Amino acid sequence: MSRRPLIAGNWKMNGLRAEAQELATEIATLRKAQPDGAFDLLVCPPYIVMETVGNAVDGAGVFLGAQTCHTAEKGAHTGDISPVMLKDAGCSHVILGHSERRSDHGESDADVQAQAIAAHAQDLITIICVGETESERESGKALDVVGEQIIGSVPAGATAENTVIAYEPVWAIGTGKVATPDDVQKVHAAIRETLGDKLGQDAAQGMRILYGGSMKPGNAQELLALADVDGGLIGGAALKSEDFWAIAQSCPSI
Ligand code: 13P
Repeated sequence: MSRRPLIAGNWKMNGLRAEAQELATEIATLRKAQPDGAFDLLVCPPYIVMETVGNAVDGAGVFLGAQTCHTAEKGAHTGDISPVMLKDAGCSHVILGHSERRSDHGESDADVQAQAIAAHAQDLITIICVGETESERESGKALDVVGEQIIGSVPAGATAENTVIAYEPVWAIGTGKVATPDDVQKVHAAIRETLGDKLGQDAAQGMRILYGGSMKPGNAQELLALADVDGGLIGGAALKSEDFWAIAQSCPSI
């Protein structure tokens, strides 16, 4: 089955207004010059520059996403942002369960699943993140940990249309360490198998599974060519338009 690659930039807590405007404008310009490139392009800036970035990429064929969301539609939740607000701000996607949310804010698999259900109710596409720590990998538990996260975080209503999975080994995020292509393919294939058991083969075969963790122009081609890798979730390299674009250009043609 051919799955259209998704190249997603997670800007994390980076980008003042002028920087965000410049980066988003550069990405929009690159995309407009190659509208038929066989990949989807997504930028996920901090909430406070969402409007700036949304305006800059409007009409350019670049999707807009957020980095997390609350489960409620509105109400007394100081500091939180609801899926309804994301939709209203022009978002089509939301990243959920990133390891930095899990570690900095104690988000559990159950929390992530509840967020995903709330986001799907607003027709947002969720990018659900999973990944093992270094000690879990060293003790041979990577596949078990990731399998448990998939079972706990992905809602029963997930489909190939409303859900994307991102495998991000925690030890590879922002460290320059990258999992070997062999290990990445093994984990992605195991994730697809678990998704098949949970959601059925149609959903599992159609669902995109991204790799994230020190993806750069220099290693993207090899990773994106793997059978069960359907794109990338990119942190540091998404903050430079030329690097982000070079990664997109590394997608195999479909
Ligand atoms: P880096 O690309 O900076 O390693 O970050 C990956 C990531 O966490 C994307 O969500």
